[in-house]
Amino acid sequence: MTMAYSMQFPPQVLFGAGAVEQLPGKLPAGAKILLVIGASARHNGLQKKLETLLADFELTIICGVMPEPDLDEVDRIIDVGRQNKVNAVVAVGGGSVMDAAKAASCIIANPGSIRDYFNGSRSIIDRNGIFLAALPTTSGTGAEITPNAVFIDPESSIKKSIRHQYIIPDLAIVDPVLTVSAPSSVTAASGMDALTQAVEAHISRGATAFTDALSAQAVKLIMRSLENACKNPDDIQARSDMAEGSMLTALAFSQSGLGAVHGIGHPVGSCLHLAHGLTCAILLTPVLEWNKSVAGDKLAGLAALCGGTSADDFIRSVSALREKTGIPADFKEAGLKEEHFDFIVKNCRSGSMKANPADMSDQDVIAMLKRLS
Ligand SMILES: [Fe+2]
Repeated sequence: MTMAYSMQFPPQVLFGAGAVEQLPGKLPAGAKILLVIGASARHNGLQKKLETLLADFELTIICGVMPEPDLDEVDRIIDVGRQNKVNAVVAVGGGSVMDAAKAASCIIANPGSIRDYFNGSRSIIDRNGIFLAALPTTSGTGAEITPNAVFIDPESSIKKSIRHQYIIPDLAIVDPVLTVSAPSSVTAASGMDALTQAVEAHISRGATAFTDALSAQAVKLIMRSLENACKNPDDIQARSDMAEGSMLTALAFSQSGLGAVHGIGHPVGSCLHLAHGLTCAILLTPVLEWNKSVAGDKLAGLAALCGGTSADDFIRSVSALREKTGIPADFKEAGLKEEHFDFIVKNCRSGSMKANPADMSDQDVIAMLKRLS
C-alpha cells in the first residue's frame, strides 16, 4: 500500500508563552487589517491588548462570531473585509472564530460568496487568500494550522467541512497565555475535541508512522493536563500542554483523517445545536468501544502512555476524564430523539466516517444513538 504524505501546514508557526508579542513584526508592512476576535475579548482585556500591539496598522475590528458558524456569518465577515479593502486578517479566538476567519480571508480574494463554494456551484478556489494570522484562545480544534473549516448551511442544516490549501493560515501563533481566560466549560469541551482528534487520528485507516508519533504525543499531553487546565485555569504548564497537544493533534489528523466520532458528531451537533467539543466528548467512549475489536493494539499503546496496559484501560481513562470535566455520558439532556436519527444517518457518511477503523452500518449508527438518547 502507498502512504500519502502531504505536508500542508502554515509556513510559520510560533509556539510558547508570550509568542503573541511577535505578531506585529510578522505581519506585512503597512497592511490594512481585519481583526476578527471572540466576543469575550472585549471584556477580558484581549481586544485592548491587540489594539495596542497593532497600533501601527489600520484596523477594522469584528468582535464576536456566532458559535458553530453558518454560511451567513462567514459572508458577513467577507463583506466587511471587502468594504474596507483589507489585505490581511488576524483571527484571535476559539474554533468558530478561526474557521470563519480562515474561509473569509480566502474568499475575500476570490469571486462570489462562501455559499458558492460550500454548495459546489463554484468548485474552484483559484486565488490564494489574503494574508492570515491565526491565534487560538482555546486548545481544541487546532484550526490555526489546518486546511479546513466547518460550517452549517442554515437552509439545509447540513454541517460539513470545506477544505483547501488556500485556507491554511500564513502564520499561526500558539501562545498558551491566550487560553488562560477561557472558562472551564470551554476548556473542557475544546480539550475533549482535541483528545478525540488525537485518538481518532491514531487509529484512523489513514494513520502513518508520522501521524502516529504526533497523535500519541498529543494524547499523552492532553490526558495528563486537561483536568488541571479546567480546575486551575492559571496553570501555565497545563495550558501549555493543552495548546501543544491540540496543535500536534491537528498536524496529525490533517494528514491521517479522523473517524466516526467526527462523522456522526457533525449531524448530531447541527440537530441539537450542541458545541462540537461536547458532541465529540459524548461520542468518544462508545465509538472507541466499537473500534476496540480492530484497533485494540493501538488503544493499548495509548494506554501505556497514560499509566494503563490495555485498550479497556484507555477507554476507561477517557470516560473518567470526560466525567471529571463535567461532560455528561449521553445526549439525554441535549434532547436527542428518535426523530433525529434519519437526518444523522443520512449526513454522517463523510471522509471522517470512511477513515474509521471498524465499519459501521446505518443500523450500527442507529443502535449507538439509541443507547445515547
Ligand atoms: Fe473536532
